[in-house]
Amino acid sequence: MTLQVWTNCRIATMQGDAAHPYGLIDDAAMVVQGEHVAWVGPRRELPRQYLQQGAAQLNSTQIDTAQHDITQHDITQHDAAGALITPGLIDCHTHLVYGGNRASEFELRLQGATYEEIAKAGGGIVSTVKATRDAAAAELEAQSLPRLQRLMAEGVTTIEIKSGYGLALEHERKTLAVARALGRSNPVTVRTTFLGAHATPPEFAGRNDDYIDEVLRMLAQLHGEGLVDAVDAFCERIAFSTVQVERVFQAAQALGLPVKLHAEQLSDSGGAQLAARYGALSCDHLEWVSDDGVAAMAAAGSVAVLLPGAYYFLRETQLPPVDWLRQHKVPMAISTDCNPGSSPCTSILLMLNMACTLFRLTPEEALAGITRHAVQALGLRDRGVLAAGMRADFVLWNVAQPAELSYCFGANPLIATVYGGVMRAT
Ligand code: NIG
Ligand code: FE
Repeated sequence: MTLQVWTNCRIATMQGDAAHPYGLIDDAAMVVQGEHVAWVGPRRELPRQYLQQGAAQLNSTQIDTAQHDITQHDITQHDAAGALITPGLIDCHTHLVYGGNRASEFELRLQGATYEEIAKAGGGIVSTVKATRDAAAAELEAQSLPRLQRLMAEGVTTIEIKSGYGLALEHERKTLAVARALGRSNPVTVRTTFLGAHATPPEFAGRNDDYIDEVLRMLAQLHGEGLVDAVDAFCERIAFSTVQVERVFQAAQALGLPVKLHAEQLSDSGGAQLAARYGALSCDHLEWVSDDGVAAMAAAGSVAVLLPGAYYFLRETQLPPVDWLRQHKVPMAISTDCNPGSSPCTSILLMLNMACTLFRLTPEEALAGITRHAVQALGLRDRGVLAAGMRADFVLWNVAQPAELSYCFGANPLIATVYGGVMRAT
């Protein structure tokens, strides 16, 4: 088992408290054993067995850490050249696998049409459904890969990908299989979410309840094929009612699958309360969530996934109730919501900035939103913070302090990403 010792760095472990923002350790050291973190703390406290002669001879001005390793015995010493290290970033809500794009819809919206009007006229999600159905799996993968690569280039090491643009068994299967294939062929963890209840496909127009019957059949089949990690739905007046969503949640619960919900994005439908009753991992969007909805989420331990890209791109004006979420101690996550209609965004760092500028999160809350809290929204426990026993997924940044990550926008200060203890090519 390989052993690596990282020094000459500051580490934002993200296991902090009010007295230790970001869990920041100056002059830190981290020991990586195989795929996991074995030890992290102040360098002066590094256990003796990890100390090696020669580390002090490293060229500390070099950013390219891989070029300046000294291997002695079985310990590789890495000089991080003064970098800030954070946990690998987690994008916990994406629709990254889809065909085509909706630039024409963007033009229509700029001529005055609203997102809801376009959806009601058969455009919107349904137009992406056609492009996704028309694309063969290889083509869909080829179209989706650059989006994944752009997120990985900003330090994303775990990503959730939803289906929901196939809306028929064959095409939902294709979407989830492409998502899984992307995870196998790239150094990133992909978690798949079945979002069959995203929109009603044209062949079920006017027959939403019949389509929900079909969603239940698809869910059972795709779960049986091992393609589903969680189940999501779009609860909204232009999508599905709480009664319809509840049928999906009951089926998920019977299969032992966790649920999450697109809730209260355009109106307050009571989706958050419903999701909380099913112990949802997360409720996402939440611009219109009520105080009751927030209280229900707090009681259920659901994460609030805030999506500033969609808020921005749809030019929404109703802000998610960040203060209520804080008061009720609901963990807040941030995500790109990467999708062709409401957030054609492949920059998690831009979302950090927007979470602060638009939603008034603190930079520390925003960074927790793409690390410690994002992982909770996925139901994972082995990442999102840097501590002994966690996966060795981390990012080296050319910044002096963590707030710089959300302060700048349009910049990418990433130096290197380590995924499961292995330096990833960027
Ligand atoms: O998260 N709200 C529903 N789903 C997506 C948008 C999908 C689309 O417009 O293609 C969202 O915003
Ligand atoms: Fe979404």
